[in-house]
Amino acid sequence: MILFNHNVSLKPFNTFRIDALATELATVHDNDEAQSLAACSSPDNTVVIGGGSNLLLLSDVYNCRMVRVGIDLIQQILDDNDHVVFRVGAGVVWDDLVNMSVNKGLYGIENLSGIPGTVGAAPIQNIGAFGQEAASAIQSVEGFYIGSGKPFSIDADKCNFGYRNSIFKNELKNKVMITNVTFKFNKQGKLNLDYGALKSAPELQKSNPSLSDVRQAVLSIRNSKLPDPDVLGNAGSFFKNPFISQEQADYLNNTFEKVPIFVQKDGNIKVAAGWLIEQCGWKGKSLGPAAVHDKQALVLVNKGGAKGQDIVNLCEAIRKDVMKKFNVEISPEVNFIK
Ligand code: EPU
Repeated sequence: MILFNHNVSLKPFNTFRIDALATELATVHDNDEAQSLAACSSPDNTVVIGGGSNLLLLSDVYNCRMVRVGIDLIQQILDDNDHVVFRVGAGVVWDDLVNMSVNKGLYGIENLSGIPGTVGAAPIQNIGAFGQEAASAIQSVEGFYIGSGKPFSIDADKCNFGYRNSIFKNELKNKVMITNVTFKFNKQGKLNLDYGALKSAPELQKSNPSLSDVRQAVLSIRNSKLPDPDVLGNAGSFFKNPFISQEQADYLNNTFEKVPIFVQKDGNIKVAAGWLIEQCGWKGKSLGPAAVHDKQALVLVNKGGAKGQDIVNLCEAIRKDVMKKFNVEISPEVNFIK
């Protein structure tokens, strides 16, 4: 049965721990419930919140319909010589899926260990870390159109996956309810250990590290840099690492020392936003009840009692300083909910 709660605090449902009120919070538990709720909801008045780990609530009160998709079924739909394919409910906790795949000896999402949030949110911003992205393991994404309840299933190559980007953040933004994501994992694989911090991880200084060693290494790096939302509200990286032109990269390299610039496989150039922010003196600094995390400048935190606007004020002050010092524009990766 679809569960409707009224006048509920959203504090437990967003990892920034912002205390906004939802006049209606609906939870669906299976595909039929999702379809009927989607059919009787309006795209202009519905917000699907998932695990709440990549959003910033800007209003004190939401009069729209907030939706949580609690589908937590994992079905194995193929097992051949090389691959195992699972259809996974949007409400499954992302890290439970990673843990399951690692325990089964399957390759594909091990570097994405410890990312908070649900499976349904993973394709929206194409979660990524330590040189791996969810997109490379996703086969298709299913759900329903909000308004009509019409089902959709989109193959990964049509999801327009990019760095922290997909069709669900663009053409389909606020238009669909994601209910299931299908993942294809590899039985044989090569570990992806090229990412800076992984190279020096103690768990990986052996001749044949396992999937589980990678998971442990990733979890300990994350624990050392990223705050636990239950202790300090946050939404992981608040900003995306910006793409810059060759001219901008030359300018930065000629003007500053040891600039963390990364040339992508496709030739695009990215610069670490955390470095830009730290160079502006923001690391560990506060503005009202919002602050920049002292161990990772990409992460903004709620020191307690912050409203969405307090985080926005800090975000804007940082963007302004980064633009002034480096002439580089940084943008939030977190989803702002008005
Ligand atoms: N750096 C600084 N100061 C900082 C943070 C970073 O100088 O405070 C520089 C360092 O030179 C470092 C470089 O930035 O070498 C890269 O830093 P890090 O390895 O910590 O990664 P990141 O680019 O800051 C990205 C993801 C994280 C992900 C890590 C590890 C984005 C927006 N963020 O951060 O993702 O965990 O790589 O792969 O791409 C998230 O999306 O919520 C998230 C935490």
